[in-house]
Amino acid sequence: MSAMVPIEPARAVTTTAFRAMKAAQRPIAMITAYDTPSARLVDEAGVDAILVGDSLGMTVLGFDSTLPVTLDDMLRHTAAVTRGAKRALVVADMPFMSFQVSEEDALRAAGRLVAEGGASAVKLEGGAHVATTVKRLVQAGIPVMGHVGLTPQSVNQLGGYKVQARDAEAAATLVDDCLALQDAGAFAIVLECIPAELASLVSRELAVPTIGIGAGEGCDGQVQVFHDLLGLGGDFLPRHAKRYADVGTLVREAVTAYADDVRDRAFPGEEQSAHMDAATLEAVRAARGRHLRRVSGSGTEA
Ligand code: KIV
Repeated sequence: MSAMVPIEPARAVTTTAFRAMKAAQRPIAMITAYDTPSARLVDEAGVDAILVGDSLGMTVLGFDSTLPVTLDDMLRHTAAVTRGAKRALVVADMPFMSFQVSEEDALRAAGRLVAEGGASAVKLEGGAHVATTVKRLVQAGIPVMGHVGLTPQSVNQLGGYKVQARDAEAAATLVDDCLALQDAGAFAIVLECIPAELASLVSRELAVPTIGIGAGEGCDGQVQVFHDLLGLGGDFLPRHAKRYADVGTLVREAVTAYADDVRDRAFPGEEQSAHMDAATLEAVRAARGRHLRRVSGSGTEA
């Protein structure tokens, strides 16, 4: 049974609040959002953190992986989210190749996500090999969330979207990766698609919170993709996700009703219409008539 941390609904969530929530064993609720209206809704629903994930490549932009997502995409969507979120901590994903080439690139990209996008923190994929980059960002005052296990930007190397760290050697490496990220100053670490037992062990080992997705209930928090939870992602639902609402069906039904109304001339009705008085209408007709005479016939004025 977890104790509730007294975090006021109106108070903005900070990265230090993440530590406090872990200390109080108060699970952290995080969800993705990619635009202003969805950010406003999840913020009003009271989540602790919003991830502007590079999953936007699939959920919103129609790609089949996160790899084509650019820094400009992330900047545009992060800014849209921060305009909609008043309370939740907004974390922006660092897209593929925005941090892998050099620490300078990483610093510039993360700086833009914070300064232009308004994010309070960034997330980047990888373990010990990105620890020096994480350290550099943290030293520059940019809070960093780590991300290990199934790291979608490495899908071509991992051979698909599969559960990671199943054997003892890979599990030990994952624990070392988490410790390296924590030492480098990461304020939290996403554990994606790893065995629940391993995620529980790591969560107990670390001082910083773990945020699970497909990593069981033993993590300090959970993150899920907005479109998966709401039935907006088509028929496919990842095994780790649960559909809390079928918004896709609601949208389809509502838009079908609208299109039917348009075709039946039942929309717009009186309530959606504005009117002008008869004299003004007559004046418009008269002016229009003169205009028609001017442009008709041989092209000379009537
Ligand atoms: O991009 C994303 O949405 C993510 C989550 C799946 C953790 O990285």
